[in-house]
Amino acid sequence: MAALCGKGAPGSEAAHPGRTESVHFPRTSRAVNTFTDEDIMARVKEGLRPTANDLPADTRETVVELLQCRLADAIDLQGNAKQAHWNVKGPNFIALHELFDQVYAAVTEFVDLIAERLVQLGGVAEGTVKVVADRSELPEYPSDITWWEDHVDEMTRSLGEFGKRARAAIDVAAEAGDQDTADLFTEVSRGVDKQLWFVSAHREGR
Ligand SMILES: [Fe+2]
Repeated sequence: MAALCGKGAPGSEAAHPGRTESVHFPRTSRAVNTFTDEDIMARVKEGLRPTANDLPADTRETVVELLQCRLADAIDLQGNAKQAHWNVKGPNFIALHELFDQVYAAVTEFVDLIAERLVQLGGVAEGTVKVVADRSELPEYPSDITWWEDHVDEMTRSLGEFGKRARAAIDVAAEAGDQDTADLFTEVSRGVDKQLWFVSAHREGR
C-alpha cells in the first residue's frame, strides 16, 4: 500500500537514511512467554515486535505506520500549542494564554493514546523532535508571531489540519481490520474538534 506519511514512510530509507531495518528478539523471550519460534515468525512482520495480540500481522503493519504518522503530527501540534501559550499578546491575553495550555493538555493525551496503541501492536513509537520535524504533515507554525489574532488563526489551522488527518485515520484503521484503532481515532478527532471550536470561536462574529 502507499506510504501513510507525506514525507516518507516510517522505517523507510528516506525517513532513516543509512539505517537498516531488522527485527531482533532475545532468545530468552521463550523463557518469559509461551511463544514458539514458529508462533513468533508467523506474527512478526519486518519492523514489528512479537505480541500475543491476535490482529493479523498485515493489519498491525498498516496500523502501526498510520499511528506513527499521526504521532508525529500530534507531537508537532503539542509544540504549536505551547508556542501560542508562551507568546500570545493582546486584549484577550489571559483567556488565550490559558486556553492554549488547555489545548496542549488535550493534545498531550492524544499523543499518549496514539503512541501506546502503536507499541501495543508491536511497533516502536518514534517521538523524538528530529523524527517529528521530518515526518509531521502539519503546516509549519510561525515562530515570530505574537498578536492574538495571528495565534488564533494559526492554531485554528493547526487543529483543523490535525483533525482532518485524525478523521481520515478512522477509515484507514477500520479498512485495515483494526476497529480499536478506528475507535481511538474517533475519540481523538472528536476531542480535537472541541479544541478547534474553543480556539476558532474567538474569530467568529455574530
Ligand atoms: Fe505556562
